[in-house]
This record gives sequence, C-alpha cells and structure tokens, in this order.
Amino acid sequence: MRKLAAGNWKMNGTAAELAEVDALVASHGAPSVDILLCPPATLLSRMSDRAGDAIATGGQDCHANVSGAHTGDIAADMLVDAGAGYVILGHSERRTDHGETDAIVAAKSTAAYNAGLIAVICVGETEGQRDAGDTLNVIAAQLANSVPDAANGANTVIAYEPVWAIGTGRVPTLEQIAEVHDKMRADLVARFGETAKDMRLLYGGSVKPSNADEIFAIDNVDGALVGGASLKASDFSAIITALENA
Ligand code: 13P
Repeated sequence: MRKLAAGNWKMNGTAAELAEVDALVASHGAPSVDILLCPPATLLSRMSDRAGDAIATGGQDCHANVSGAHTGDIAADMLVDAGAGYVILGHSERRTDHGETDAIVAAKSTAAYNAGLIAVICVGETEGQRDAGDTLNVIAAQLANSVPDAANGANTVIAYEPVWAIGTGRVPTLEQIAEVHDKMRADLVARFGETAKDMRLLYGGSVKPSNADEIFAIDNVDGALVGGASLKASDFSAIITALENA
C-alpha cells in the first residue's frame, strides 16, 4: 500500500496560492508516498494543470446525481473533467454546515466510484461523544452507513478526523488514535475482507510538522488529511517527508 499525504484547503486559496503547488512540485518530484491536494473547486482545474504527475488533486464534495437542476453543486464527472482523481466526502464541516447524513455520504461515494474517483470518506466523533465514551460506537456506525458496499482498497480512503481536533491545535493521544484506527481496520476487514487491508486509513485534525512523526509511527495510520498545515508548502512538505520516513 502506498501511504497518502492529503491536503484539504477548505475555503482557502485563489490564484496567488498556486505558487505553493509549484513549490511542492519542485521539492517532491518523485515521492515515495501519494500526495493529494484538494483545493476549492474554483482552483481545481488550474491546480491540476500545474501539479504534474507527482501530486494528485481532488474535490472537497460532489453531488450524488450525475447532472441536473442542483444550483451550486458539482457532479463527480465534473471533478474528473477538472483533473481530479479523488474527492473528500462527508467531512464534518459538510455534515454540520450542510446537514449531510451518512446516507447522503454513501450516495455521494457511489457517485464518486461511478465517475472513477477515489472517495476519501471522513468520520469522527464530537467532543461530547468522546466524553460520553461513545467514540468507537460512533465511528463504527459512520463507517457502516457512510461507506458503500462497493468500497475496496483501490477506490476508498477513510479519514478519521475527531471534530474537536480540527483546527484547534488539540490532538488525541497516540493511544486514542491507535484505538480508533485499529477498530476501523478490524471493522472494515470484517465487512470487506482482504481488500480492506489495502484501504488507506488517514488521521486528520491539527496535524503539523511537529507531531507528524509520532502520528505516522502508529499502526494502521497510513497517512494524514491535513487542513491548515497544507496551505503552506513548507509545512506540508515537512509532513510529506515525515510520512516518507515513517
Ligand atoms: P486542520 O489540519 O486544520 O486541523 O484540519 C483538519 C481537517 O479538517 C482536514 O480535513
């Protein structure tokens, strides 16, 4: 399995920030891990043109339908047309801001597969759910209901992003990350069999150059989904290098 360093630019970036991509291309010409950047949709085509072969690009969402009267939405085929190879689905910000349920995330993931995209399906507990001791049950239910039956190691990446760790500088303990990733692997193997051993399991939530080494040393952590630290080439580059050395 090739590990994956993924950056989620969220609602950040205009043409000027494409210089960060140029800097990444310059320093990671032949990476030993997969590199993915998911910019706002407005930058996707231009970023894809500049990212070359070493860096894949992805959308941050897609619609479940292939076309039609859905103002403001983007179909999976349109992401492919703009150069994307991946799409992030079910990010907690979309679950919260746009009321996306597990069923919606599963429908979008199926649309992504049909377009030939790799789905990066996000799961994660809130702070209240963790405090209540519900983390493993919440994650298991999100996986069971957000990941379609057609998932396999080639078309699906899972990102574990505790909601309370996103953009806060707070990170779970290494034991807490390991516990969730081990359980996710076990659940996925129980459901999908051997192919789930090749499914990349990313950790996301306040990953920085300063904590990447210890996070990447955890079993069943096959990379990261990075928000804020993916916006600057110097920070993201250090995280990529940490993953290459893990
Ligand atoms: P931060 O790395 O900024 O905490 O964001 C994580 C995230 O939500 C990536 O999808």
